[in-house]
Amino acid sequence: MHTLIKNILAATEPAATVVAKGWVRTRRDAKGFSFLELNDGSCLANLQIVVDATTPGFEHLHQLTTGASAVVEGTLVPSPAQGQKWELRASRLEVVGLADASYPLQKKGHTAEFLRTIAHLRPRSNLYGAVFRVRSRLAFAVHEFFQQRDFVYVHTPIITASDCEGAGEMFRVTTLKGNLEEKPETDFFGKRAYLTVSGQLEGETFACALSNIYTFGPTFRAENSNTARHAAEFWMIEPEMAFCDLQGDMDLGEEFIKAMARYVQAHCAEDLALFAKFVDKGLPARLQFVVERPFVRVPYTDAVEILKHSGRQFEYPVEYGQNLQSEHERFLTEEHFKSPVTVFNYPREIKPFYMRRNDDGKTVTAMDVLVPGIGEVIGGAQREERLDQLLENMKFHHLKPEDYWWYADLRRYGSVPHAGFGLGFERLIMFLTGVPNIRDVIPFARTPGNAEF
Ligand code: 4AD
Ligand code: MG
Repeated sequence: MHTLIKNILAATEPAATVVAKGWVRTRRDAKGFSFLELNDGSCLANLQIVVDATTPGFEHLHQLTTGASAVVEGTLVPSPAQGQKWELRASRLEVVGLADASYPLQKKGHTAEFLRTIAHLRPRSNLYGAVFRVRSRLAFAVHEFFQQRDFVYVHTPIITASDCEGAGEMFRVTTLKGNLEEKPETDFFGKRAYLTVSGQLEGETFACALSNIYTFGPTFRAENSNTARHAAEFWMIEPEMAFCDLQGDMDLGEEFIKAMARYVQAHCAEDLALFAKFVDKGLPARLQFVVERPFVRVPYTDAVEILKHSGRQFEYPVEYGQNLQSEHERFLTEEHFKSPVTVFNYPREIKPFYMRRNDDGKTVTAMDVLVPGIGEVIGGAQREERLDQLLENMKFHHLKPEDYWWYADLRRYGSVPHAGFGLGFERLIMFLTGVPNIRDVIPFARTPGNAEF
């Protein structure tokens, strides 16, 4: 039996026999003995191992170069060296797998761009080990957050026939050869099918039965935008609540982001310290701010006025009725309010058909949460629960009601006010780690022209 290095280093007293297994980060040879730094990914820190000429296996020590794998047995003793509490005095050394000098992760720092070209090896670097440990913790925290509040986890389908967002950014799923448009009814599903852009519509059917639900799964968008915050495949978290309005929806979004910030503070301190040192010096202060301070809430109309009077030359013009661009969102959250901001009540023209029309006739109950460094992290809404209005919205957005018959049925049988949102898991991780590119918080990024691994 071996022990994970994380647990070895958490020891409260010396131990006679400990077995560690991992990959060599560095080896330093001195006269008569050597230091090995072993890492197994269970934590950021390496285990320092002292090997001397009397250690069985010492003759193989020269094979343990950076990247090689090894098993080491020894005695855990207090380390005389600075910066670490424990070290392992080896009593047995075994080389498991060699790594020659072509191993690309040498001690010097590497750029994120270079590491993306070796996405199969980058989890062995300090930064990516930290990112993916935090990602795992956060995934667990997402479930804990909703389960503690009695939300039911629903697995919505990945293959779907409906375009939830109406933006036409769907990947087609087909077994047809040749002309895909000729006879869609002969295709595998008897109709055109796509990878889902959102589990919301299916999620709503479950909320209108089980009250509070959430989804958490892979989501796909064929938008050809090569930005630091768009991926073609990402993970979305989508809660949906029956008997809930826009206010309750905004409250949940804010509470959720705060809870995630608190969670990483409490459970990922060592990895956060690495991000604060090498990625984003402002991270600890930002997390604390998010935890402590209420988010700003501002109607879209007011946000447009603020932007218009900002004295700023934006690349895209600001006009009522236009979508807020990334530069506008970031101005609001980073410079004007210097806080996360929830913008709500958007013009109906620029939002999907399922959002509830406000009494003013012009706006719908949409809400977007914008955060510094990222822009939009949450998009959500109270849903249109009135059948006649929903049908009118479909007409307005040029959708065919027969394509959404089952969705409309929710408004025919026991309709209730309900609301929910979608949060991009990768954008949340970017926000909570300071890592500035979405390609670096997902194990294998899918972006235009890129699906190597
Ligand atoms: O704002 P969006 O498009 O909202 C929906 O899909 C709703 N149906 C959600 C709902 O109400 N249940 O997407 C929600 C979030 C965005 O705020 C963003 O964080 C993330 O999903 N997102 C992306 N993340 C990475 N790459 C992309 N291409 C993304 N597109 C959206
Ligand atoms: Mg959105």
